[in-house]
Amino acid sequence: MPKIKKASGSLTIMTEMVMPNDTNTLGYLMGGNLMRMMDIVGAISAQKHSNRIVVTASVDNVSFVESIPLGNVVSLEAKVTRAFNSSMEVVVNVFSENIPAGEKSNTNKAYLTFVAVDKSRRPVEVPELIPETDEEKEYYAGALRRRQLRLVLAGRMQPSEASELKALFGI
Ligand SMILES: CC(C)(COP(=O)(O)OP(=O)(O)OC[C@H]1O[C@@H](n2cnc3c(N)ncnc32)[C@H](O)[C@@H]1OP(=O)(O)O)[C@@H](O)C(=O)NCCC(=O)NCCS
Repeated sequence: MPKIKKASGSLTIMTEMVMPNDTNTLGYLMGGNLMRMMDIVGAISAQKHSNRIVVTASVDNVSFVESIPLGNVVSLEAKVTRAFNSSMEVVVNVFSENIPAGEKSNTNKAYLTFVAVDKSRRPVEVPELIPETDEEKEYYAGALRRRQLRLVLAGRMQPSEASELKALFGI
């Protein structure tokens, strides 16, 4: 297994059409269904990077700015932004497309963290991630700050240890 892998190798795209069973009573894609898809596409992306079984450790806030109506095509694009020891941050962008109308928008974005585990569910090391494009480099640079924030919020890191956050807030 390579010790270093490119971010591009983890790119995963999932595309589905919103069908009646997927919607709420107003005829829009149910938030829970969308979160399920985000979890799956993110897990596949993390598996591609680590070649391991992965579990979802956390999902950062998901905002629902724009509803996705019945009949639209929803596509989810996931990529690992940075790998740490056993954990990987994955960014998932959601696009809603009305193909006949030629309309497409980026409706949601979230960061999910997956942990690679062995068959006994013990965390195992993952390959380092190399960002190549400007966008990948930007995601990579912000990942440490986001990791510290989520670990502080989860009670897994003392605020005093969060160097990136302290620098951000000038403390
Ligand atoms: C995620 C899990 C494996 C972490 O196990 P653990 O015994 O706490 O292991 P560790 O303390 O060694 O942490 C392992 C990694 O998880 C990360 N982690 C743990 N909790 C986290 C959280 N809330 N958010 C983000 N990352 C987290 C740690 O930062 C660490 O990352 P690193 O190795 O890259 O530094 C464990 O809590 C678990 O199995 N949770 C249930 C997962 C699950 O059932 N998900 C839904 C179905 S897939």
